[in-house]
Amino acid sequence: MKTKADIRKEILDIRNNLDINEAVSKSSIIIDKLKNTDEYKNSTNIMVYMDFKNEVNTKIFIHEALSEGKIIIIPYTDMKNIEIIPVEIKDFSDLVMCKFGYLEPRKEKIDKPYDVKLIDLVVVPGVVFDKSKNRVGFGKGYYDRLLINRKISCKAIALAYEFQVLEEVPANEHDIKMDMIITEENIYK
Ligand SMILES: Nc1ncnc2c1ncn2[C@@H]1O[C@H](COP(=O)(O)OP(=O)(O)OP(=O)(O)O)[C@@H](O)[C@H]1O
Ligand SMILES: [Mg+2]
Repeated sequence: MKTKADIRKEILDIRNNLDINEAVSKSSIIIDKLKNTDEYKNSTNIMVYMDFKNEVNTKIFIHEALSEGKIIIIPYTDMKNIEIIPVEIKDFSDLVMCKFGYLEPRKEKIDKPYDVKLIDLVVVPGVVFDKSKNRVGFGKGYYDRLLINRKISCKAIALAYEFQVLEEVPANEHDIKMDMIITEENIYK
């Protein structure tokens, strides 16, 4: 089998070159499917990534979920400790653009992290997945470290374009499987 690094590069090359209109229209299909899941409907405390480059776009989801009364938690990437700090936001003014080009919670907000054990649903980004719901991310293990600490009933749902889901990807002991992967064409669960 190819290495994680090889397949990460292969799929990122495709995603980085994805046509913006295609990304937007597929993202909207994927978000509609996410909102139709029982996992979404039954969750109050929802952690969701902020999309970066051509990741499945989550901004519309965040707006809609907030207006439906959901509690929205956004990851702050603590690069020093290689750890995700979950931070509740009330609206988009609680976010700022970071130097890497994605929105993150304002610095003053990270002093009060949201308790991971209270999160009902984590909407997870990723680079490559497989049909057994294994996930390959950017390669630092941020989400593996976060998800290992979630409560048992908390679900992990990944969003991806169909071309990101392969037959099989390498998985290590520390890799946490997704509970569901939603693409514009399929729901893997
Ligand atoms: N629970 C953990 N505790 C300590 N180290 C971990 C844990 N999970 C993963 N790691 C370490 O993180 C490194 C990268 O992991 P991996 O290759 O799975 O990244 P990834 O899942 O692709 O990245 P990411 O989740 O950040 O998108 C590995 O060297 C691994 O040892
Ligand atoms: Mg991993």
